Amino acid sequence: MLQRLEGKSAVVTGAGRGLGAAVAELFSQQGARVAVSDVDAASAGATASRILDSGGEAFGLQADVTSEEDAERLAALAVERFGALDVLVNNAGIASAGTVCEVTPEEWDRVMAINLKGSYLCSRYAVPHMARAGGGSIVCISSASGVIGQQAQVAYNVSKHGVIGLVRCMALDHAADGIRVNAVCPGVMRTPMLDALSAEQLDALEAMHPLGRIAEPEEIAEAVLHLAADESSFTTGGVFLIDGGLTAM
Ligand SMILES: NC(=O)c1ccc[n+]([C@@H]2O[C@H](COP(=O)([O-])OP(=O)(O)OC[C@H]3O[C@@H](n4cnc5c(N)ncnc54)[C@H](O)[C@@H]3O)[C@@H](O)[C@H]2O)c1
Repeated sequence: MLQRLEGKSAVVTGAGRGLGAAVAELFSQQGARVAVSDVDAASAGATASRILDSGGEAFGLQADVTSEEDAERLAALAVERFGALDVLVNNAGIASAGTVCEVTPEEWDRVMAINLKGSYLCSRYAVPHMARAGGGSIVCISSASGVIGQQAQVAYNVSKHGVIGLVRCMALDHAADGIRVNAVCPGVMRTPMLDALSAEQLDALEAMHPLGRIAEPEEIAEAVLHLAADESSFTTGGVFLIDGGLTAM
């Protein structure tokens, strides 16, 4: 049976753990060659090793999405190693809590730099390669927080709203280049991002979702795969809530 990403090469940011690692591994299972990047070199290497051990093609790369130099190198290396860059997943992100009075200007800048500017920078250097090759697919990981307001999450929430704006603008600007751009908005997922939460806080998050639980990262990765693959060839500028019904209330 033909795999869904047969012959494609992909860059996934923040792929050392959590959703990024799940996406990188699923992409490989579906035939993609994967550039596994993360600000943490060891975890990027570990994800790449798991892919290689299971017979896939991948390399690990330390790249900070807030660095223009790293973003440029990431796209260039994928093209150099794989001959093309067909899919970019802007996944790297950090959590942040607090109201406008509580979040410091430094924390605000850090959240915007990683969650929003990082997606801009990585896209900026991927788009020309994709356009030259006749097209590609960019998937940005926003959040259910990107479509609703929330209390005491202001920097994170605004950064994820910004990602949706970036997706819509890039979809319009690069449709003629054959580049599709879409956003995936997960509800709460069981990843190391939640490690700091208590059992009671986790229970409350589970109860908040109409499906009565939080997502496994693999469930969100399936949506990312669909948007990366040619099966979604008429889908661009879309905002896809994969949130267990959270925002339906
Ligand atoms: N976990 C959730 O409940 C949840 C819900 C909705 C959306 N999201 C979004 O999903 C994406 C993945 O989150 P996750 O839950 O897997 O988080 P995670 O913390 O488990 O993993 C994030 C990865 O990003 C990497 N990273 C952090 N800063 C980076 C930088 N500057 N450059 C490159 N890599 C960097 C980290 O090293 C880590 O490997 C994020 O964009 C997050 O905002 C998460």
